[in-house]
Amino acid sequence: MPNSIALPATTDYFGDALQLDMLTNLSTHGWSQHSLFLPETLRLALASECADLAASGALKSAGVGRTAVLTVQPAIRGDQILWLNPGQSQACDAYLAIMESLRLLLNQHFYLGLEEYESHFAFYAPGRAYLRHLDRFRDDDSRTVSVVIYLNQDWLPDQGGALRLHPQGLASLDVSPIGATMVLFLSAEMLHEVFPASRDRLSLTGWFRRRA
Ligand code: OGA
Ligand code: MN
Repeated sequence: MPNSIALPATTDYFGDALQLDMLTNLSTHGWSQHSLFLPETLRLALASECADLAASGALKSAGVGRTAVLTVQPAIRGDQILWLNPGQSQACDAYLAIMESLRLLLNQHFYLGLEEYESHFAFYAPGRAYLRHLDRFRDDDSRTVSVVIYLNQDWLPDQGGALRLHPQGLASLDVSPIGATMVLFLSAEMLHEVFPASRDRLSLTGWFRRRA
């Protein structure tokens, strides 16, 4: 892996225009979307890592609910996941460094008191979906901001796989899972769902958490 993907953990990663757009959209609409959020070298490294993990059987069917009462229900949630740990790869560490910068930026502007970030690779095989849901659990309100970054090369609109957001009181909107696109939304408020696709759909999904 080239050293060029190692990025400094500083809010300098985000240019002024991106920061303004992101913070304005998040505060006024509860969501924000950006294309080309990751450098292509990093997107590619993360996509290969996710595809290799899927091929080697390292990903596990995701459950619904919290750990103690987690049940696998593929008709409701069809992705396979692997939680990230610091040090698992250079690419993951570069991604986590960017997310750390984002955590600091969000705290600086919104006083959210975000203390940690948890994240997993997600792999949806063709036809798999995730029905409409909120990311915040009924019995744990620590998840505050959800982040999804897509890793897919050359995604075409007719391949499906959209993330549909349902902002309260506004028309729903679809985000196509095009590589390096990033979506942020408020975990407690934004109902959303993942539509099935005709090809493998790869992403990194994560949550900034407050103290539980
Ligand atoms: C999730 C989720 C959205 C997406 O993992 O909770 O809603 O577009 N993911 O993958
Ligand atoms: Mn979700």
